Amino acid sequence: MFTIGEIDSIVEKGLRTLDWKQEPGELYEPIEYLISIGGKRLRPRMAVLCHSLFNDKIDNSILYPALALEIFHGFTLIHDDIMDGASLRRSQPTVHKKWNNNIAILSGDVMCIKSYQLLTHAPEAKLREVMNIFTDTAAKVCEGQQFDMNYESLPVITTEEYLRMIGLKTAVLIACSAKIGAVTGGATPATADAIYNYAYKLGLAFQIKDDLLDSFGETEVFGKAIGGDIMSNKKTWLLVESLRRATGEDMKALQDLLAASNPEPEVKIAAMRALYEKLGVKEAADRAICILHNEAEKALDSASLRDDQRSQLSDFAKSLLNREK
Ligand code: IPE
Ligand code: IPE
Ligand code: MG
Ligand code: MG
Ligand code: MG
Repeated sequence: MFTIGEIDSIVEKGLRTLDWKQEPGELYEPIEYLISIGGKRLRPRMAVLCHSLFNDKIDNSILYPALALEIFHGFTLIHDDIMDGASLRRSQPTVHKKWNNNIAILSGDVMCIKSYQLLTHAPEAKLREVMNIFTDTAAKVCEGQQFDMNYESLPVITTEEYLRMIGLKTAVLIACSAKIGAVTGGATPATADAIYNYAYKLGLAFQIKDDLLDSFGETEVFGKAIGGDIMSNKKTWLLVESLRRATGEDMKALQDLLAASNPEPEVKIAAMRALYEKLGVKEAADRAICILHNEAEKALDSASLRDDQRSQLSDFAKSLLNREK
């Protein structure tokens, strides 16, 4: 097994070996830019970590598929930022703001394509399985993103609808990363599935934390503009839970905020945050994260893992959820 620090440096070095100095520059420079400005590298780290639980040999047959996951993730971020009208990502201007929408669309497209090329390095015997998980996941991310957009204009959605949406847009890619690592590492099918379910639950918790940080984080640390979700009436965990809890005056205030046309950003964000505090949904989000984290740990019970393998996964999960960025 490798330490998390060793895995991080393998992933970082791997990303640096990718050559984006190709023509035309307008297509490839945004890719180099997005990778160079950072990010947590959660998905490739998860893939390499899950591989290394079962296999001490880390070569390109796991490294390139792991990088494919980061490149695919980058594609979803570039397109997501156009869809969400976001101007800041990883503490820098988003690709569509620094260049323009057309460049962001096409650079994103080529990232998606290149991710498939990297994935073909998976071990021959596992290639079909890896391709199938990845392709199925990629379609699900698009489904989740469409639900996310549809829900902006719905007056209310259920917690189940919310969980399905974040399951698709966020959790499946994290789960897919874990499973690809487990599969290439040689885990049994039952253990690879348990690891998938584990990472899926963690992915749900990860998105709820993202929702929380979008309203209550610090821009300088989080790297994204705070309140973007509030401004677009995004059906985040906080809003879904508030709509479920609010009554009387609070419900009226909530509905007025959601219906306001052209509100002053500072005013709407401050008022919504105050309502979230009043309704107790901030603490409730922390509890929801904790419950999902426990459910994730339980999902591992059906995997046959040694204590050291299990604690490696648990340490990684903790670092993911106790984050401020
Ligand atoms: C952002 O993902 C999109 C979500 C699924 C919440 P990350 O929070 O992993 O973003 P980076 O890669 O660290 O920038
Ligand atoms: C992330 O949703 C989902 C994908 C990028 C596929 P968000 O819209 O919440 O992600 P951030 O907050 O912009 O990173
Ligand atoms: Mg989005
Ligand atoms: Mg977004
Ligand atoms: Mg978000």
